[in-house]
Amino acid sequence: VVLVGGGPGDPGLLTVAGLGAIREADVVVADRLAPLAVLEQVRPGTEIIDVAKIPRGEFTPQEEINRLLIAHAAAGKCVVRLKGGDNFVFGRGGEEWQACAAAGIDVQVVPGVSAALAGPALAGIPVTHRSLNQGFSVVTGHVPPGDPRSTVDWSALARSGTALIVLMGVANLAAIAQALIAGGLDPSTPAATVSNAGYPGQRSVRASVADIAAVTAAAGLTAPAVTVIGSVAGFDPLAPQ
Ligand SMILES: C[S@@+](CC[C@H](N)C(=O)[O-])C[C@H]1O[C@@H](n2cnc3c(N)ncnc32)[C@H](O)[C@@H]1O
Repeated sequence: VVLVGGGPGDPGLLTVAGLGAIREADVVVADRLAPLAVLEQVRPGTEIIDVAKIPRGEFTPQEEINRLLIAHAAAGKCVVRLKGGDNFVFGRGGEEWQACAAAGIDVQVVPGVSAALAGPALAGIPVTHRSLNQGFSVVTGHVPPGDPRSTVDWSALARSGTALIVLMGVANLAAIAQALIAGGLDPSTPAATVSNAGYPGQRSVRASVADIAAVTAAAGLTAPAVTVIGSVAGFDPLAPQ
């Protein structure tokens, strides 16, 4: 099984190694956010399994995906597991590797360009910029601050001095911004949301962290989207250095 990171959506952002693996595959198990246009490049006879299809209103459960990977590989087939971005960034790549390893299946990894970095870059935001910051933190906003399931310390992030890159956070953006401001982040800190990065429908907005949730909603930006919070989100390439 080859875990291939497909990049943020534009087939041009799939790596050469990723494309090579797809062209050699007997079976490709593809996800919703994978760059599906590259599947035109498979060999004749390659089986494509789209696990984003919604049987009975639900996505294919992870256990079923693991079972498919193992069953095809155990039958001697070369299986590519194609996901959006990088399989190890909120992509369950580790779980799939563990399931394969437990079944005695060899795994190779082809890293992908994560939307966490490509989203900001495609919207003209460098996630580090020497005069502005010395790092970035990538977190999921899937679980809102204050929820007992959340393990993210939003006040620590507010004081971290790093840019914050939030994935899966559109629905909880107002709560996230509030938690960061309550944790000490200046409400005027620049922020930006980029949706559908790398797709023809890519859109982005910029606002202060205090306003970013309202501005994102008013512009109608929806998932998949990345929000960047920190001085780099106000980056202007034409500004004097
Ligand atoms: C389950 S995570 C998978 C992340 C993926 N493994 C990666 O490395 O990019 C899905 C989230 O990634 C972000 N995302 C993925 N593709 C995106 C895109 N093309 N534009 C903006 N955000 C994207 C969104 O926050 C989305 O909700």
